[in-house]
Amino acid sequence: MKSRGCGVQLRRTKERMGAPLCALRMVRSDEGENNKLDKFVIKGGRRLSGEIEVSGAKNAAVALIPAILLCDEPCVLENVPDISDVSMSLRIMYEMGAKVEMLDPTTVRISAEGLKNFCVPYESARRMRASYYFLGALLGRFCKARVSMPGGCPLGDRPIDQHLKAFSALGAKCNIEHGMVDLFAEKLTGSQIYLDVVSVGATMNAMLAAVRAEGLTVIENAAKEPHIVDLANFLNSMGADIMGAGTDVIKIRGVKHLHGTTYSVVPDQIEAGTFMVAAAATGGDVLVKNVIPKHLEPITSKLRKIGVNVDEYDDSVRVWVDGPLVRTNIKTMPHPGFPTDMQPQMTTLLTLAEGTSIITEGVWEQRFRYVDELRRMGADISVDGKVAVVEGTGKLTGAPVKACDLRAGAALIIAGLAAKGITEIEDIYHIERGYSNLAEKLRQAGADIEKVSTPVATIREAVSG
Ligand code: EPU
Repeated sequence: MKSRGCGVQLRRTKERMGAPLCALRMVRSDEGENNKLDKFVIKGGRRLSGEIEVSGAKNAAVALIPAILLCDEPCVLENVPDISDVSMSLRIMYEMGAKVEMLDPTTVRISAEGLKNFCVPYESARRMRASYYFLGALLGRFCKARVSMPGGCPLGDRPIDQHLKAFSALGAKCNIEHGMVDLFAEKLTGSQIYLDVVSVGATMNAMLAAVRAEGLTVIENAAKEPHIVDLANFLNSMGADIMGAGTDVIKIRGVKHLHGTTYSVVPDQIEAGTFMVAAAATGGDVLVKNVIPKHLEPITSKLRKIGVNVDEYDDSVRVWVDGPLVRTNIKTMPHPGFPTDMQPQMTTLLTLAEGTSIITEGVWEQRFRYVDELRRMGADISVDGKVAVVEGTGKLTGAPVKACDLRAGAALIIAGLAAKGITEIEDIYHIERGYSNLAEKLRQAGADIEKVSTPVATIREAVSG
């Protein structure tokens, strides 16, 4: 029995009749709201040491899952991170009629065989930004798609004009009405696509729509992030013909048919970077495992400038501190520049360094909203538009704070680990969108961090007196 449209959530622990190993849990429609009451409680001041294992990349997995819609055979994805954005992507696939089976906690088999549905409803799409990948994948498969405008972290204006420009170039008519994006094409034809801004999402969506288009597509001014290369490798393993991913010109020769594949998601360089900064902020010594050191270079090189030691091995990095942290300047840029998704974590580290650091956000309009929370912990940071000036005070103190987005939440965790006293972080559902078993992983390296859930009934009792 399949249940649709009444709050199905994928869980990785039980078996379900008729779909062995695909564990599904029915949740009340208000459960997401209840999760907003969960918090992380951190007793700071403990030096991290030992080993931490990095999971598969969120920003790769959320594109690879919809990419499976492009083929009519089962695909197996390994190294899938256990995060809520992935659960949501799997839930959308399931609600659309795909067969979704968890083979183990990080391996999922998905079959979109015979799937006819080309519509992703508002309730599912609004919860995460990456639901826009269903546009490219459905357009590629059916020559039509109907997907609600995406949600996601509040980082300022998040237009999708470049995605639509790419779809139009391939021959699709695009229409946005009543919050839904409608795409339709008689057929998709390869084309020259020049992206006016370097966009991860538009590059990946153009790739998804072009793999089965007739003829050659050339994407110019393409983004070069590791997850773009991962999507190209995944699609090529299904029989696509994509060259140049990882450079700013990607060439895609359309194929008629894609076949099933087994593929392992690339390690998450932002999760790895977050642990590297956490090790540095606590004066620790941590081996961060299951990484591709090359992908971490922009982060590694900044950490070294700050006075942190980073030793690189084949698939791990050791991060350790044996002296004072010193100031530096950072400007975020598309890959291979310093990643915007590491900006809040690195700003937090620089509050602990000696001297004045200047941070310039070069990608998002509003990525300093977390600074107010860091100030509550004693940070001395002033913000003017896209520039923050950090006066390193060398210390933070624990306080109750709120995560306002995913990486802001990661920054507050780092602040809490380094701070004197107790930090309580609310709204951790933001953090759980992108970090798999975060508290458990940090505890293994010696952190004192607990996830505390407060039942709604308790809150209601307290409020009603
Ligand atoms: N932009 C446009 N038009 C578009 C698309 C983007 O003007 O059609 C602009 C944006 O406003 C922004 C810039 O281009 O100023 C870059 O946006 P991009 O499209 O690259 O971002 P995205 O695809 O929406 C992904 C990640 C983000 C990450 C950015 C930049 C996913 C699901 N999200 O977003 O990840 O910050 O690339 O690297 O892949 C995160 O993981 O915390 C996160 C926010």
